[in-house]
Amino acid sequence: MQDSKIQILIIDLGSQYTQIIRRSLRYLGFHSIILSPAKSLDWIKQNKIQGIILSGGSSSVYEVDAPKIPKEILDFDIPILGICFGMQWLAYINDEKSIHKTEAGKSYGPVEINVDTRSRLFQGLLEENKKKINPHTFFFKVFSKRSKSIKKEGVGINAWSSHGDSVKHAPDGFSVIATSKNGLVIEAIECVSRKLWAVQFHPEVEETEDKNIILNNFVEKICNCIKDYNQEDIIKEIRENTKKELDGGTAIIGVSGGVDSTTLAAILAPTLGKQLKAFIIDTGGMRKNEIERVKEITKKAGIGLEVIEKYKDKFIKSIGKSINAEEKRKYFRKVYSEVFKEVAKSYGATHMIQGTLATDLIESGSAGKSAMIKTHHNVDLDLGLKEIMPFSDFFKFEVRELARNFGLEELLVGRQPFPGPGLFLRVVGVPVSVELLEIVREADYEVKKILKKHKVYDKIAQSIVALLGVNTVGVKGDGRVYGYSIVVRTVETKDFMTVKGFYLGQEICEEITSILVRHPKIVRVFYDFTPKPPATMEFE
Ligand code: XMP
Repeated sequence: MQDSKIQILIIDLGSQYTQIIRRSLRYLGFHSIILSPAKSLDWIKQNKIQGIILSGGSSSVYEVDAPKIPKEILDFDIPILGICFGMQWLAYINDEKSIHKTEAGKSYGPVEINVDTRSRLFQGLLEENKKKINPHTFFFKVFSKRSKSIKKEGVGINAWSSHGDSVKHAPDGFSVIATSKNGLVIEAIECVSRKLWAVQFHPEVEETEDKNIILNNFVEKICNCIKDYNQEDIIKEIRENTKKELDGGTAIIGVSGGVDSTTLAAILAPTLGKQLKAFIIDTGGMRKNEIERVKEITKKAGIGLEVIEKYKDKFIKSIGKSINAEEKRKYFRKVYSEVFKEVAKSYGATHMIQGTLATDLIESGSAGKSAMIKTHHNVDLDLGLKEIMPFSDFFKFEVRELARNFGLEELLVGRQPFPGPGLFLRVVGVPVSVELLEIVREADYEVKKILKKHKVYDKIAQSIVALLGVNTVGVKGDGRVYGYSIVVRTVETKDFMTVKGFYLGQEICEEITSILVRHPKIVRVFYDFTPKPPATMEFE
């Protein structure tokens, strides 16, 4: 069946970045679809598309079980862009001797590449480069199959690569349009007459500093696609798909007050009406004034919200049984799913709607082959309800953008993330209790006030304040104190998967320390700017 809005087909060859290609196209304003190689040929025959992107993948073209891309896709006169494995396949299919097989490990990480800006794929990069403080153009050397070196003017960009095999020479009819390592490594090739382009690096990821110009060139300049994807389309799609999946049933949605679940509930509330029941659980591990603020935000967004308070004690007692990080998470998850079951029963719900993002699924080991680092409280819950996750291929910044365009207030849009198990994860090394939760809640509140006062709060992706259960000796007044420590962790990040410490200056640290040690039981304050990896954002 033709979906007239889809202009680009992305053939998924197993890369962890395939979703990011689709996300980048959506961001640039184009509709696309991701399909497996097996389904792609029939789909192309039945749909009128403007271009094909072959994703990366971890296989080698020499492997017997490498993805089987139908060769017939080359016969449609539709422009094709191969990325990483996609490039190797395009080269191999045209010249079996063009691929250098890597015996030892993969090359993974940043690479400085030199591109020939006369290629339509790279147009505009020279102008973009000139905007930089120290622009540099250079003479771009190309080594052809016959080792002829040609000099062309080009531009250098930082790109991200992750590959094993590589293209050692361009097949006949192709020319080299980007190289790295002084022209020794081929990074991109093209065969304009056959409408084929290919890049070894990943233009879709943020680490490739091209401002999405390369993907946009392919889609807009080469495939002649029209930008027709906008925020209204996204909202419309989310509403229509959810309504369809719900199929007349009733859904519950747990709203935490964070940007994901609240935005989703706000988008769906007008369409689903009485079919949607939104609630918030007061777990006892919430931040100061949290419930009141969530009530305010949801009221303004037109969401009817039930506040469920009666399980507070159960959460605290249950989680207080252990100081082991994973056990605490499992206890939290157990009570959390009990509450969900009861709420679902009381509403006669058939479905559960969740604001889970692509990153949540990757981190909790539910996407692809990624490893499980921590038990997440709301991923893969078996509640006997059908799950709908409309944001499952969205990233945080996209949800923020959606929320902003949807008219949700800045207070919500810019909110720092807060994990479901909340302050329970921030009492470390000692059993949680009402008293300790209260100490860390107050400390968190004070730290936030100071960060806001110094106007750094909005620059920090997340500030985490935790109580460490190791008692140390201090002196207050004239007496000995044997009390707790507080740790303040501030970090910056784009994607929440890797993190850099956000270093607070001496003035801010001194102010935080002096305010926090006023509490009679707090003796010391530590600061933690460790990056992730190795340290995860939360302590547990
Ligand atoms: P970590 O600690 O894994 O955190 O580096 C990455 C991001 O995820 C948040 N986080 C959670 N969010 N339930 C959530 O809803 C959880 O169980 C959970 N654990 C961590 C964390 O605050 C950070 O933003």
